[in-house]
Amino acid sequence: MSIPTTPVPEAPFTIGTPEFSADPLGHYAWLRENAPLARTELVYGPVSQPIWILSRYRDCRAMLTDPRLPRSPAGGAAIAAGLPEHLRLLSTESLIMKDDPEHKRLRTLVSKPFTPRMTAQLGERVRELANDRLDALTDRDVVDLRQDFALPIPYTVISEMVGVAEADRPRFQDGVAALLSDRSAEGWDEQVGDLITFTRDLVARKRSAPGDDILTGLIQAEQDGDRLTEDEVVAMVFTLVIAGYETTYNLITNAVVTLLDHPDQMTRLRQAPDDEGLWRSAIEEIVRFCGPVGGTKPATAAEDIDWDGRTIPAGSTVMPLLGSANRDPEAFDAPDRFDITRSPNHHLGFGYGAHFCLGANLARLEARIAVQALLTRSPRLSLAVPRDELVLEPMPLWTRYHELPVHLD
Ligand code: HEM
Repeated sequence: MSIPTTPVPEAPFTIGTPEFSADPLGHYAWLRENAPLARTELVYGPVSQPIWILSRYRDCRAMLTDPRLPRSPAGGAAIAAGLPEHLRLLSTESLIMKDDPEHKRLRTLVSKPFTPRMTAQLGERVRELANDRLDALTDRDVVDLRQDFALPIPYTVISEMVGVAEADRPRFQDGVAALLSDRSAEGWDEQVGDLITFTRDLVARKRSAPGDDILTGLIQAEQDGDRLTEDEVVAMVFTLVIAGYETTYNLITNAVVTLLDHPDQMTRLRQAPDDEGLWRSAIEEIVRFCGPVGGTKPATAAEDIDWDGRTIPAGSTVMPLLGSANRDPEAFDAPDRFDITRSPNHHLGFGYGAHFCLGANLARLEARIAVQALLTRSPRLSLAVPRDELVLEPMPLWTRYHELPVHLD
């Protein structure tokens, strides 16, 4: 069979530039309409890489279960190429960049605390943290809801689950913030390198003083049957901590912005704090409409692939744009309408297929309890700055506000 040779269109813009980040939805709409499979560049700090992007819902979904598009080894290597040698394990050793059977083996090792039953048991703790934060903030005229409320809740929860001691959390959080900041900043390598050394140290300390936590479980798995290397343990700690709070605190922040933008829907939620069904559909709609993650980790074409008559050459890096799929009018009725009763709602905000978000139940639980506590305790919640002063950070494929100043009362 001969492979068709229709050229893949070049997108007339680059993902990750301030221009793209200023209007991702406009760019997504253009892509879906004009170039559902396109070639472009992905810019991240000083690193730029060529990338093939898919923007329609059905293509994104199909791609995420297509065996011709595995993650490793080239996908991990593509990200790792932008990192100094001593940091590459963060990408190459993480389960998010592996395929079966390694992926399954790593995922099985950490899955247990994330089942719906185990997650539900965390509800009380999340409620306590949300109320403690609100207690601490009541006297302030202006509160940065992102930093002072949305962030500490999931960060504390995931740190407790993984086993990062309270005294170590500020240092770990600073290191992670550096890791996710501009890679061209001075001292970036050293700061992130220091974080890895610190994590290796944490693993060593946990070896001699085991606890009832995920890290201890991983170390025991490593000792039992040579099933995990130390690099894998370190990468797993990073993956869990970063995935466990960076996403969720932005989801909570984005949820509040979106509800303030849609006061009728906010009132509806306020009036029905115990309506399980309504809250469930509201959280799914929030993830669809303003979920923080706009794309998955890249895959690599294992062979020349015929995609709707166009060729993705072997070795190409390919990424589905989840943020675009979630606004595709072919998949969602009136996709730009925020509707907390939307059903069904098969969004891709938590990914799809083998790498479907491990922490989706936890994220839903945390977002729901945090937003519910806030709406109940702050009946007059309002922005403390004009709406157009809320700025999105120019991060490729992330919906992340720089800050969210509000009056709680
Ligand atoms: C994977 C989104 C919260 C842990 C993913 C993926 C997405 C996602 C889109 C797929 C990535 C890919 O295919 O490359 C989100 C969002 C969250 C959230 C939007 C919150 C709003 C969490 C939490 C945890 C978590 C709370 C807890 C630890 C993970 C892990 C993976 C993952 C470990 C990789 C799974 C694998 O490779 O098998 N998440 N996530 N996430 N998420 Fe989340």
